[in-house]
Amino acid sequence: MRQDLIEQARGVLRRNDRGAYTVPTHGLYPFQWNWDSALSALGFSHFDEARAWTEIETLFAHQWADGMVPHIIFHQQDDGYFPGPDVWDTGRPVPTSGITQPAVAGFAIRRIFDRAGNRTLAERKARALLPRVHAWHQWFYRDRDPQGTGLVAILHPWESGRDNSVDWDDAFDRVPTDGVMPFRRRDTAHANPAHRPTDEQYKRYIWLVQHFRSLGWDNAKLHDASPFRIVDPGFNAILIRSCSDLAGLAEKLGEMEIAEQSRAFATRGIAAMDTLWNGKLGQYACQDRALGALIDSPSIGGLLAAFCAIPEHRAQAIAERIGKLAQSARFLVPSHDPEAPEFDSLRYWRGPVWLIVNYMIADGLKNAGQRAMSERIFSDCIRLIEESGFAEYYDPITAEGCGGGDFTWTAAMVIEILSTQKAPA
Ligand code: GLC
Repeated sequence: MRQDLIEQARGVLRRNDRGAYTVPTHGLYPFQWNWDSALSALGFSHFDEARAWTEIETLFAHQWADGMVPHIIFHQQDDGYFPGPDVWDTGRPVPTSGITQPAVAGFAIRRIFDRAGNRTLAERKARALLPRVHAWHQWFYRDRDPQGTGLVAILHPWESGRDNSVDWDDAFDRVPTDGVMPFRRRDTAHANPAHRPTDEQYKRYIWLVQHFRSLGWDNAKLHDASPFRIVDPGFNAILIRSCSDLAGLAEKLGEMEIAEQSRAFATRGIAAMDTLWNGKLGQYACQDRALGALIDSPSIGGLLAAFCAIPEHRAQAIAERIGKLAQSARFLVPSHDPEAPEFDSLRYWRGPVWLIVNYMIADGLKNAGQRAMSERIFSDCIRLIEESGFAEYYDPITAEGCGGGDFTWTAAMVIEILSTQKAPA
């Protein structure tokens, strides 16, 4: 059974493999996505280490001069996706978007390096990637935390990876829509429109893109010029975890300067994370940086904070909070609290379960000694696959598989979980 699932998952990766990068799924997402690639590399690393390294190398080959790593790389022309390269207009030789995504590559590289069978290859690849990943982290703390708070802001909902989470409904409402170019969405031709973001939300997504474009994609200007500035605990936890993993890797490779600076980023970040603790919700929560206020939204972003080394009592509180969610969701971890009025079990990031987020939460809880909850989450991942196959995401109550099918990072997580956890199924 286990081996059978692994075989099926490899088949999904192979079908979405375009040679030097994978697409998240054919149709809906026909290009390379940033955090999809880093997490998918974990799956490849169990059966083709060279291919895993290539996935991440291709991503970093399109890093900008200032250190930013874009969220989409448009390797080839495809009219099935909007907004395409002409809308972003970032002026890159191979077109890319102009915003970023969760910085999970540092974590992925460290994990692939630590368990690599081919040590020579791993050392060569990790040594070459190390300064590039570090430059990305430096970019974050320079251009997305200009006040030096220790926490970075996202300037577009797509940067968070949790596109239309409830967390920024209010902040997003303040983004204007006047002057938005007329456009035709393509996502609704591939997925059920009732599960996708609304047209009103799409107009605001595009307004932000046009706004940043009018500023010449100059990252030194975008933070202060954006009406949308959110400090997302999950996003920051991923960055912090990558910084501390990179510090460890740099030490092993004798790159002491990178090690020290990465360690300093992580230490300062973990201390600052506590400013996002929302006592009322019993979890971390987003902060609206434009208003300087915490947002009362019980989403998975606050639980994903467990991916970095938060204090033990906080990790325990998160495990308890997830335990409460289990009273209303059959499958953990719903992306929004099922008891909250905005919960929607099928709509993008407003309720459904994503395996990649589950994996990161479970990994963090395991490190923090919260073994029972970690194992429960890993096993729910496999139960979902057994019921509904390799979907993009799942209804936390019925297990219905939604969004795109044959999904790369879902398959990668199955390989990763079944190959590394004792008996999750
Ligand atoms: C959606 C998700 C995002 C992901 C992308 C490709 O936009 O919200 O996190 O990277 O699809 O899978």
